Amino acid sequence: MSAIDTLLNRNSHARLVDPGPDAAELNTILQAALRAPDHGRLRPWRFVVVAGDRRQALGDVFVRSLRLKGVDDPAKLEKAANAPLRAPLIIAGLLHAVAHPKIAREEQAHAVAAALSAAQLAAEALGIGSMWRTGGYATDPSVIESLGGAVDDQVIGFLYLGTREGPQKLRPEEPLDTFVSYF
Ligand SMILES: Cc1cc2nc3c(=O)[nH]c(=O)nc-3n(C[C@H](O)[C@H](O)[C@H](O)COP(=O)(O)O)c2cc1C
Repeated sequence: MSAIDTLLNRNSHARLVDPGPDAAELNTILQAALRAPDHGRLRPWRFVVVAGDRRQALGDVFVRSLRLKGVDDPAKLEKAANAPLRAPLIIAGLLHAVAHPKIAREEQAHAVAAALSAAQLAAEALGIGSMWRTGGYATDPSVIESLGGAVDDQVIGFLYLGTREGPQKLRPEEPLDTFVSYF
């Protein structure tokens, strides 16, 4: 698939199964992330790969996050425990902002989002399905600490990666007129 076809046809897929990306594919996906635009080359990102039985460990982290918020509904806790099992591999993309006199934290967050988007597009080009997720876990300090993040870090996205199960959804072309104007 050409780069343009990849860009025009990318879509998310919630049902992701084995096999996940192999080591070479994962390397390509992460290298694509690291080529994202980044004002000042501050490298304000950290990527944490969660695969295999470490996904259960991440599920435990999600359960603890809910419990710390006072949630004790068994159905909600079970859903949290199983959430990371929705794909064979997850990349957590963290904002690890650098103090800078001119480049604000917000701009650094945009760089991390650009990196995750590049990773997602690289996966698409490799024929690997993906889904970008956040939710309350992304900003929960207990989750961020468990991922090895620093106090002010934030998960910009959990990128779920794997083989698409079921048909790929197709999106109609977007109407340019709604979103684009000429100054
Ligand atoms: C920052 C960000 C956070 C997101 N968080 C979630 C999420 O927690 N749960 C979810 O179902 N979709 C989430 N999405 C949306 C999906 O990843 C996806 O983009 C959406 O379902 C539209 O599908 P498409 O990418 O095929 O157009 C998020 C997207 C972004 C950019």
